[in-house]
Amino acid sequence: MEKVDRRKVLKAGLGLMAFPPLLSACVPRAGSGYSLDFDPEQYRSATAQVGNQSVRYRAYEGIVYVQKPVDTRYQQMNLYIPEAYFEGKSIGNYDAQSAPIFLPNRVGGYMPAEPGQPGLQTAPGSSGSGPNAILLALARGYVVASPGARGRTNQAGDGSYTGKAPAAIVDLKAAVRYLRHNARRIPGNPERIVSNGTSAGGALSALLGACGNNPDFEPYLKALGAAPARDDIFAVSAYCPITNLEHADAAYEWQFSGVNEYQNQLPSPPSQTGPSFPMPHAPVSGSLSPEQIALSQELKALFPAYVNRLGLRDASGKPLSLNPDGTGSFQDYVAAFLQASAQKALEAGQDLSRVDWVKQQNGRVVGVDFDAYVRALGRMKVPPAFDGLSLENAENELFGSNRDNARHFTRFSQERSKVGGSLAPAEVVRMMNPMSYIGSPATQTARHWRIRHGTADPHTSLAIPIILATRLQNAGYAVDLFLPWGVGHGGDYDLEELFAWIDQIVAAG
Ligand code: DHB
Repeated sequence: MEKVDRRKVLKAGLGLMAFPPLLSACVPRAGSGYSLDFDPEQYRSATAQVGNQSVRYRAYEGIVYVQKPVDTRYQQMNLYIPEAYFEGKSIGNYDAQSAPIFLPNRVGGYMPAEPGQPGLQTAPGSSGSGPNAILLALARGYVVASPGARGRTNQAGDGSYTGKAPAAIVDLKAAVRYLRHNARRIPGNPERIVSNGTSAGGALSALLGACGNNPDFEPYLKALGAAPARDDIFAVSAYCPITNLEHADAAYEWQFSGVNEYQNQLPSPPSQTGPSFPMPHAPVSGSLSPEQIALSQELKALFPAYVNRLGLRDASGKPLSLNPDGTGSFQDYVAAFLQASAQKALEAGQDLSRVDWVKQQNGRVVGVDFDAYVRALGRMKVPPAFDGLSLENAENELFGSNRDNARHFTRFSQERSKVGGSLAPAEVVRMMNPMSYIGSPATQTARHWRIRHGTADPHTSLAIPIILATRLQNAGYAVDLFLPWGVGHGGDYDLEELFAWIDQIVAAG
């Protein structure tokens, strides 16, 4: 797929052998740490075939984006720039000044993630063949910056944890600051940065867009020696964001309470190209115990108060609320998104006659039975779905500290902890939730949002992406939310549409 310019590689290789100090891009300068100044000469040239298009680009890889990194394997990014922009040329409507900067992260499972590279599909759940988002973005004339980020399992030599919350979001912000700091040296428009991610990476993409320049993160950025620049971005693409974690347990039971069988997805086979991350070793399938059923009911009962507190409104201004039993206008609103998905599938020629929760009349979808949808989808996680009572979930590890591998992040689970787990500071939990920052002072939230969550994805409640999208829309941001029909947990499955959306919002300004 990727053809590397052998001469450059050879030259670089010989250079490194003959003059080890030329490794300067990877070695801190004595005293001042890593340089925050982008070096335009440290690249290799490459050519890739995308369809019948030959894409020439410069690859700047392994750029450490903070002066004082904690972990250079992850606090680095790869930058790919169409060669045309060094020749004064345009690609479509874009040139070196105007090209958007596509910022895909490869975070999955809140694990550490290395920067992405051009090649085959790598997002979890994507088809696994064909050019990945990075290559397709380059072919469209975007500049691509793929940041790595620390994650929940990172440890220093002394065993202390170095990637617990809020490390990953701090790293992504630092990468954005590096790009802005070097705006004059790096082609592309830093005022048109579009973040992309899937699942935990989708959550971080959304968080990055929500909390631009908020002072909460300043001490962390300062400690790393992040570049002195803004970190707000233009737009967010988020696939199935596993977000709003402190309310996700109640949201999950609002949706799945009453479904007492669960089926956890089998771990996917090891992949050459995709991120691999160990997910918790819950039993693959089973029935909820009486204790878990009681927990489910307790959690479900907490959800209406949360939704009602948000004061959300639909697109026509109608208040969205829930009754104590979980029914109400918010539930109808969620069902309407399922209905829109079914209608689109129908129009695309799919036969939905055997989908028992979709009601059709005269070739149109006229309604959906939400409870029947939930039964057909099936429960994946046991309650509490995220803040596990034995600290067994990925999210418990996300909220660990430098000394504790895992902590609780809701009072509900901490009070019921089976392992005497401690509670992460409220401030840290807050900092991982985009909901905390929408409409908050001293914050520049991204103007454009594209959120996708497949109708066949039971990793979090549909309420989670829908609440995020609605909160954004109510605050005046432009939101494109859709639940793709029959799509499970994954991302990057509709890149043509994603890039058409990016072109359109960039053209609109
Ligand atoms: C991911 C999936 C989960 O179910 C979860 O709880 C956290 C992260 C993921 O795929 O990134």
